[in-house]
Amino acid sequence: MTMVSEATRLFPFTDAELANLAQVHGAPAFVYRASEAVAQAERLRAVLPPRARLAYAVKANPHPVLLARLAAAGLSFDCASGGELIRVAALNLPVGRVFYAGPGKRMEELSLALRMGVRVQAEGWEDLARLDALAIGPLDVNLRVHPLEAGEEATRILGGSGPSAFGVDEEDLPELLARAARLTHVRIRGLHCFTASNQRDAERLRATHASVLALAERLHREHGLTLDQIDLGGGLGVAYAEDEAPLDLARFGVNLRELLAAHPWFTGELILEPGRFLAAPTGVYLARVIRVKESRGACFAILEGGVNHLLRPALTGQPFPVRAVGKGPGGIRHTLAGPLCTSLDRLGEVDLPELQAGDLLAFGMAGAYGFTEAMTNFLSHPVPPEVWVD
Ligand SMILES: Cc1ncc(COP(=O)(O)O)c(C=O)c1O
Repeated sequence: MTMVSEATRLFPFTDAELANLAQVHGAPAFVYRASEAVAQAERLRAVLPPRARLAYAVKANPHPVLLARLAAAGLSFDCASGGELIRVAALNLPVGRVFYAGPGKRMEELSLALRMGVRVQAEGWEDLARLDALAIGPLDVNLRVHPLEAGEEATRILGGSGPSAFGVDEEDLPELLARAARLTHVRIRGLHCFTASNQRDAERLRATHASVLALAERLHREHGLTLDQIDLGGGLGVAYAEDEAPLDLARFGVNLRELLAAHPWFTGELILEPGRFLAAPTGVYLARVIRVKESRGACFAILEGGVNHLLRPALTGQPFPVRAVGKGPGGIRHTLAGPLCTSLDRLGEVDLPELQAGDLLAFGMAGAYGFTEAMTNFLSHPVPPEVWVD
């Protein structure tokens, strides 16, 4: 049994379970345990202030099984497209449980959001004006702001500060708010700020969130906005390796409570939109070794699947944790390559035991930004099944 410790939770299955799943469903495959996401949500909720609400970021993993489990656990949802809105509509949630953000919203997507009673995160004048044209009565929206002081991230996902496609630049707020005040139906009732993903340092998150609350206070005092929601976005990080410290959840919760206490003027709800934090620990990607090749001093293991199934390592430079099922740890440096005709097709450089054709490799933490980010059309290899175990 090689299940890793509870603290790191890189793999939600034992080696025996993984070998059995590969036997039954074949490989490559994604295998998931949905209860892991519910457990993560419970851990997070246990430390949050009562005025905080969790809205799962559907983009991390939009599978209907996961959405249904999280809806049953009482979560709200953050969508980023009409397609995600349609998936969430199938859950028949009460009005108010869904948010919609995204830098490029088409008219028909905005129209769908209004029909569903979704709270839209307006990302610029166009969103505000289009919503005003669509609305038939008072409409509360949130405004996504790209702050001057933004949380930075190590990997390029949201982009931190600097020029951005997301939200209204903070320096443009006075002009935008003056225009928005003349709209007929739309009322800005919330602030949304999110600039950095995969943050595991509770103090860095605190600094980012403190600057969002300070910005909200300026909107309230200097521009007279009455805010009922402050949406801090996603960004709660997970450890992708055993030696990476997980986010200190207790500290994170205390920090949010202290920040709220420092802003007594704000009596509304805090919204958090975790994607990775809830979904990553649910999933494992399984692929077998097709062959092993020594090349000029390097040892390549060439697998049945690569970036056509797991693109994230090529996008962010951060590999998923991997182990050789049933073989224990090992010290031979392997370059893990996929079957595609591009040298971008790499899943990592890792120490593993000696590998041979047919060995099964398991990539952990693959429940978020795994299959959903895949580019399965490239080279027309078979599309892996997604198997939900519980
Ligand atoms: C608006 C918004 N909310 C939430 C998320 C989820 O982020 P994470 O998976 O880092 O929690 C994203 C990710 O890109 C996002 O763009």
